[in-house]
Amino acid sequence: MSSDRTEQLREIKDALVNLKESPLYEYRRRNNYYPVIGQGDHYADIMFIGEAPGKNEAEQGRPFCGASGRVLDELLESIALKREDVYVTNILKDRPPDNRDPLKNEIDLYAPFLERQIGIIQPKVIATLGRFSMEFILRRFGAFQAGQKISQIHGTVINARTDYGRAAVLPLYHPAAALYNANQRETLEADFQVLKQFVSKDEPGTMKLL
Ligand code: URA
Repeated sequence: MSSDRTEQLREIKDALVNLKESPLYEYRRRNNYYPVIGQGDHYADIMFIGEAPGKNEAEQGRPFCGASGRVLDELLESIALKREDVYVTNILKDRPPDNRDPLKNEIDLYAPFLERQIGIIQPKVIATLGRFSMEFILRRFGAFQAGQKISQIHGTVINARTDYGRAAVLPLYHPAAALYNANQRETLEADFQVLKQFVSKDEPGTMKLL
C-alpha cells in the first residue's frame, strides 16, 4: 500500500468504484450514479461522517452537496470553517434507494472503507452527523453504551482511543433535521459552538491541542 495519503485514498476510491458485491452497485449503475468517497483536506483535524449519499450526492459524486450540505456549510461558517478545512464522508458510499435508512449488511460492507479513511486522515475530532454515524463510531471505539440516544449525547465530547491515538468524538444531529425544524437548527448551531472551542483562531483549519 502506498504511504502518501492522497494515493491511499485513491486506492479506496478505486476499490469502491469496482465494488460489484455491494447490494447498491446495480442501483448505482442503472441510475448512472457515482459512489461518494469523501471530500476535503486529507490532513484535516476534523472529520464529519454522515449516513449515506442522497440523490444529489450520487449524481455528483460529492458528499453533502444538496440541501443538507447547504446547512452544513452555514454551520461551518458559523465557526469560521470552510469545507476545504475539514474532511467530509459517509458510512455508506452508495445511495440507498429512496433515501431509506442504511441496512446492517450495507453498513458492514462499507465500514472497512470508512475505517481506512479514518486511519489515513487521523482526525483529532470526529463529528458524527445523525444517529447511524454516532452509533457506528462509538461502537467502533468501544464507547457506545446500550440504549444511548442521540437526543441525550448530542453536543457532548466523548474521548475515544483510536489506533493512532486519542480523538474526540462529537455526536451531532444530522443537518437534514435542521431543514424543516427550527429547534433542531438551534440545537445544531449550539453544538457547533462546542466544536469551535477546539479550532485554532490563528489557523482556522487546525485544532488546538486536545
Ligand atoms: N446525507 C448524508 O448523510 N450524506 C450526504 O452526503 C448527504 C446527505
